[in-house]
Amino acid sequence: MSLNFDKMELLPRPKLFDFHGVSMTHFFTQNWENVQNFQARPDDILIATYPKAGTTWVSQILDMLYFGQTSPERLTTLPIYERVPFLEMTIPNLVTGKDQADELPTTPRLIKTHFPVQFVPKSFWEQNCRIIYVARNAKDNMVSYYHFDCMNQGQPEAGDWNSFFQRFMDGNMVFGPWYDHVNGWWKKKETYSNIHYMFYEDMIEDTGREIDKLCAFIGLSPSAEEKEKVTSGVQFDNMKKNKMANYSTLPIMNFKVSPFMRKGKVGDWKNYFTVAQNEQFDADYKKKMKDPTLQLRCVI
Ligand code: A3P
Repeated sequence: MSLNFDKMELLPRPKLFDFHGVSMTHFFTQNWENVQNFQARPDDILIATYPKAGTTWVSQILDMLYFGQTSPERLTTLPIYERVPFLEMTIPNLVTGKDQADELPTTPRLIKTHFPVQFVPKSFWEQNCRIIYVARNAKDNMVSYYHFDCMNQGQPEAGDWNSFFQRFMDGNMVFGPWYDHVNGWWKKKETYSNIHYMFYEDMIEDTGREIDKLCAFIGLSPSAEEKEKVTSGVQFDNMKKNKMANYSTLPIMNFKVSPFMRKGKVGDWKNYFTVAQNEQFDADYKKKMKDPTLQLRCVI
């Protein structure tokens, strides 16, 4: 299904509201019943992340791994948001991610969600679908989210950095607090084993190693040549200039404010956090991150 953005109205920035205890905007709630009734198939792969944790990166990796050999034209003709639908997203009069997912012709279907774990439609659990979760250290995640909210007309106003920082600390972000998201999905591994939990920083450290781990999880054995093609295709600079991966075709995003592929680095938070903000953050982080492994992994 190809999207025609001519039909899309540019509306004012959406407002945040409480939805079953999580801050959301109408873009992600208005199709709630249909999304909850989504019929997952056993071979569906769900890519779950808090916004700005590396969703597009992992989506591109998976799409290349699965379809780079068999239907390479997908990668050059369809933008990432059509190859990997965003399940809960609805743009009025234009598209719902749920319909896109229903109509995906591929096997497996790669589906993206930013839902906190408790919002995931039950058929994914019932069908024992493979789920790939990507977490990113909270400070960089926050900075990336700030720039995203500045440039994306579909998100609430970011305001200035200081007010955004406080809102993030208060958990008043679309899809709720970062803490609840990464902790909730981490805990889910105790009762649901079909989750591969990844870290953005690991992908930066050694993309090839993380692709190997992903392949082991999904049961793919690409040749050395195929793997090299994927590893190089998903390097930051290559994805940044790839119109089918960099979101430059989405008119609600204002690239004059910030590109979607912004820096792709670990530690950019140091350019934004004041000393006082960093102290406030660290004290709060210690209280909220109880799991020792996750605590160490999600801060730098
Ligand atoms: P920055 O804003 O820090 O640059 P998501 O896809 O979940 O929205 O995440 C977007 C973030 O992932 C952005 O972070 C983007 O630059 C980064 N990213 C996307 N592709 C990447 C890649 N190939 N390598 C490194 N970072 C990447």
